[in-house]
Amino acid sequence: MMFRPAARIATLPKPATIAMAAKARELRAAGANVISLALGQPDFASPMVAVEAAYAAGRAGDTGYPPIPGQKALVEAIRAKLLRDNGVEAAANQVMVANGGKQVIFNAFMATIDDGDEVVVPAPYWVSYPLIAQMFGGRSVEVPCREEDGFRPDPRAIEAAITPKTRWLVLNFPNNPSGAILERSDLEALAEVLRAAPHVMIMCDEIYEHLTFDGRRHVSLLSVAPDLADRVLIVNGMAKAYAMTGWRVGFGCGPAPLIAAMIAVQGNATSGICTLAQAGAVAALNAGNDGIAEMRDTYEQRRNNVVAALKKIPGLSCAMPQGAFYAYPGISSLIGKVSAEGRVLSDDVAFAEALLEEAHVATVPGAAFGLGPHLRLSFAASDEDLAEACRRIEVFIRAIR
Ligand SMILES: Cc1ncc(COP(=O)(O)O)c(C=O)c1O
Repeated sequence: MMFRPAARIATLPKPATIAMAAKARELRAAGANVISLALGQPDFASPMVAVEAAYAAGRAGDTGYPPIPGQKALVEAIRAKLLRDNGVEAAANQVMVANGGKQVIFNAFMATIDDGDEVVVPAPYWVSYPLIAQMFGGRSVEVPCREEDGFRPDPRAIEAAITPKTRWLVLNFPNNPSGAILERSDLEALAEVLRAAPHVMIMCDEIYEHLTFDGRRHVSLLSVAPDLADRVLIVNGMAKAYAMTGWRVGFGCGPAPLIAAMIAVQGNATSGICTLAQAGAVAALNAGNDGIAEMRDTYEQRRNNVVAALKKIPGLSCAMPQGAFYAYPGISSLIGKVSAEGRVLSDDVAFAEALLEEAHVATVPGAAFGLGPHLRLSFAASDEDLAEACRRIEVFIRAIR
């Protein structure tokens, strides 16, 4: 029998990153010294308190099925964290734990999106929002943000994108891939727009909240506009700030009926998440944010070095990322030109491929994030690799004709 995928899978676009990753593997296998700046994974170890707590939980026999919404100790630690870091007071039935922030998003969209519903997503965006929405029959409506505005969304453009079919607006700040953050005044302007559109739910993906630079702090929409609480879902998790990507612990905080629907989804998918990972997350959250400050300072120093190096390269533009761990330089003036080895740089995908083939630097083209021509460079790499990658990018670009 011929395998026939369901339509929801068959029509999913292939991410622009897959061919690049395969090419990087091929080059490495052939002996090339490829530097990858393509990863969205912190290059730090998880907190030792988390590792020890997970071990202790295993030794103590905490190995049975957990409650689907999360173990009580973790739900309590998340509630304390929301109050401490975000000024958000949440009841226990407004919080749920999932296998990563990604499953929080998946649960929320599956619980709410019907055929033809629209999800407004400022671009550039993290790749998964439109893809997950599409799996449930939804359609993403992209609102391009301008580099001149530091990639912050224009509230008027968001307003214009909202229709009677809009189910969600996704706000991911600090943003992957642009590093943009929103100021209180941005949030106030967006809240005004949202008050006039009471049918729209708002997904605030705050997974990079602790990684902000130049003394700036992330501000949660809910702390600026508590009146929107009955339709805001906060998405967060342990992956980025705590360097715990592989533990797969994410959490959501939202109105109780939405959280109940999301728990119903997860109950039919994965059930509750790994008990040992939950014990680790409790320990990391309750240990406070001192360890995060050290990582943030390291990312900030790397950002300063990378942006300074990129700004020296003719033909690149580079807005200063204010958070997360990515730079998102623009390459529009180089599109249509030809590389040293004769590759036509017709768009950012072709550019990233040529950069990989000729300079052995792996990046992600802006096409993957819905706004090009750009490249995303991750700072989750050593100082030496970052400096060498920037040097190679400069040599590659200076040779373009
Ligand atoms: C903006 C954003 N949200 C959510 C996630 C998902 O994180 P998790 O590893 O917790 O599923 C990522 C991971 O790359 C991300 O960049």
